[in-house]
Amino acid sequence: MEDPCFVYHRHIVRHAGLEPVPVPVDDGGMRIDILARSGADVALVTPAHQSPTGVVLAPERRTALVAWAEEHDAIVIEDDYDAEHRYDRDPVGALQGLAPERVVYGGTASKTLAPALRLGWLVVPQRMVESIRREKYLADQGTARIEQHAFADFIARGELDRHLRRMRSRYRARRDALVTALERELPEARVKGIAAGLHVTVELPPGHDEQAIKAAAHQASIRFSVLGDYDASGPPTLMLGYGALAEAAIGAGVRELARIVRET
Ligand SMILES: Cc1ncc(COP(=O)(O)O)c(C=O)c1O
Repeated sequence: MEDPCFVYHRHIVRHAGLEPVPVPVDDGGMRIDILARSGADVALVTPAHQSPTGVVLAPERRTALVAWAEEHDAIVIEDDYDAEHRYDRDPVGALQGLAPERVVYGGTASKTLAPALRLGWLVVPQRMVESIRREKYLADQGTARIEQHAFADFIARGELDRHLRRMRSRYRARRDALVTALERELPEARVKGIAAGLHVTVELPPGHDEQAIKAAAHQASIRFSVLGDYDASGPPTLMLGYGALAEAAIGAGVRELARIVRET
């Protein structure tokens, strides 16, 4: 598992009776050289936009990860939770396309439409289809049909593509407003993970107390999580989501946040 990782992933892995093995993430994503020495036989990754750091898995590491899976008869689980929201370059293809018999791909409507829909999908190696079908049946017998048909119709009419195009430009404008405001108000911070998704990470110089900043910001109705919430160690880092913010409100919010950072 990526370290840091989406906390819920680790809970799921433990709950399944498996042992999570942390593999560090740097600016190029998961360190595949360390994975190769870890003894793991499954890798769970968020290659398009690492959760939580937001970095993208570097091209040479994508190749190395697939080669690792081939060499170790291993499986890669690719959680592609928000790749539809990519701003500065063409979409990166899914790892799944590189090795369809090695990669279990998961997608979701949670970030493109609404988490409340509870619609997601898997693309799995042929040999695993039956066992996954059985696990799914034992878990809940199935997924709501009405929502699935509505979603299929939405896609077939081209509405999903239209929606994504519209939202991408809106989210890009919000992201740009956030990054510009952070450069202006918190020039000492390193802003990362801006290429995709709906959040950026803001690394503060050493000495800042991220939990204290989070608590003080909460008092001012500015809410976010911090790196420590992901059981991860590292420099003090704020995770700022912008998906639901009005572009016009972002500048004032960041000014207030900068004041809190300086005073805390
Ligand atoms: C890393 C990651 N994977 C998956 C999801 C989506 O999960 P679901 O499709 O169950 O809503 C999220 C949502 O926050 C996420 O952050």
